[in-house]
Amino acid sequence: MDSILDKAYIAENFRKQGHALIDMMADYLAEATSDKEEIQAIPWQSPEEQLSYWQQDFSKPKVSDPLELFKDVMDHSIQVHRKRYLGHQTTPTLPVTVLSAAFTALLNQGMGVYEMGMVGNTLEKVLTEHLAQKLGYSKEASGFITSGGSLGNLTALLAARAVATDIWQSGYENGKQLAVLVSEEAHYCIDRAARIMGLGAAGIIKVPINARFQMRTELLEEYYQQALSEGKQVISVIGCAGSTSTGSYDDLKAIAAFSKKYNLWFHVDGAHGAPAAFSPTYKHLMAGIEEADSVVVDYHKMMMTPSLSTALIFKRGGDAYKTFSQRAQYLWTDQNTEEWYNGGKRSFECTKAMSALNVYTIFRMYGDGIFKENIERLYGLAVSFAEKIKANKSLDLAYEPQCNIVCFRFTATERDLSKINLAIRQQLLEEGRFYIVQTVLNGELYLRVSVMNPLSTEQEFQELLIAVEEKAHLILSAKDVGVDV
Ligand SMILES: Cc1ncc(COP(=O)(O)O)c(C=O)c1O
Repeated sequence: MDSILDKAYIAENFRKQGHALIDMMADYLAEATSDKEEIQAIPWQSPEEQLSYWQQDFSKPKVSDPLELFKDVMDHSIQVHRKRYLGHQTTPTLPVTVLSAAFTALLNQGMGVYEMGMVGNTLEKVLTEHLAQKLGYSKEASGFITSGGSLGNLTALLAARAVATDIWQSGYENGKQLAVLVSEEAHYCIDRAARIMGLGAAGIIKVPINARFQMRTELLEEYYQQALSEGKQVISVIGCAGSTSTGSYDDLKAIAAFSKKYNLWFHVDGAHGAPAAFSPTYKHLMAGIEEADSVVVDYHKMMMTPSLSTALIFKRGGDAYKTFSQRAQYLWTDQNTEEWYNGGKRSFECTKAMSALNVYTIFRMYGDGIFKENIERLYGLAVSFAEKIKANKSLDLAYEPQCNIVCFRFTATERDLSKINLAIRQQLLEEGRFYIVQTVLNGELYLRVSVMNPLSTEQEFQELLIAVEEKAHLILSAKDVGVDV
């Protein structure tokens, strides 16, 4: 057989390669709980080093065994299943979803229309309606799955605009300056979505935050009246159910009451924290979410699925059809009918991944209980980590964590704290044993930990604090430590 293409489809080769890959991945997972010192969370290399490595690799002779390549990729990648991975809000994917994701790649359903995603489009309805119930909505609520919280938030704001204006049809001609009210701590994708929608900087009204980094809802009235006096039309108020930097939950009840008073679209960005709905212990943090017109929830953050998979839920399922009205006769015959099974009608995307299967597989195998357990474990670990920080006189805890995001900094020095903490984080990164990140709170740099890995234990947190102090003392005692402090 001479054809490269024909050879590439030989099923027996796939079988062998697949078995070998599963073995490799299972070895990696088996090691995930290991305490071995040499196991790194991140094999740090600068972007230039990384680029030069892969440029060279690309010019090498072809590989006959993909495993060689995959091992190389793993050795150069951050490893989210490691117990000392404590960085951004990326989940250590549940092993069974690695299988469902591979299976999804094989099926490669197009999803935009029913025929091209008969199961996938149906699962999206089942899953989003189940999540809606968990959030406390009535049976009228429904939604779909889209690729990421950023796209989910943009789509929700487009729905808010479609309800308030006719811009989708008639454009911005002679229109009012539109605006949204949002916490200063909202994820940058909200700002980006508003700008994509043509609202400009003047259209993003940032409401100040309190000491717990929650929106100061008592200021909503003042900011709203100010916007009106400047001739703006507010189309939405957006609450955070778990802000990115600090994991703070806004007072959603207060935002709901305010939105109701002025008949404004109430959207909740629950990309990170809305899975708290599965925990009777933490659900109260989101009281009022059931009054939101729309909610975004990332399955790929705290619900353990591979990226990307985001539920966008509408309180009145029919609202989802207001966002886009377009003719696509090769896909569906009538835009005006509410056909949940033709995914492209409500989603920004045409072809998209059947990521619903990853979520559905977890539910069918483990039920709601696994999400309850995950949330409670992660939030519980964060509380005990915060206690350890408070007990250490060299460290300062930025706030009492409401969920699994903890910010702190080393303070036992007279020198510039932001610079010292930046240097600590850089040294940790270059060493690679721990992966943590940083954020800026009230203009000061803090170290930031997201407890995403249910396999992490108190020991890792204890060791992290020792490492932070060691780095700090090294930095303070040496002049030349690679980072300018
Ligand atoms: C609160 C919040 N909203 C939205 C996003 C963006 O979500 P995605 O990365 O899925 O686009 C994030 C990402 O961290 C987030 O934390």
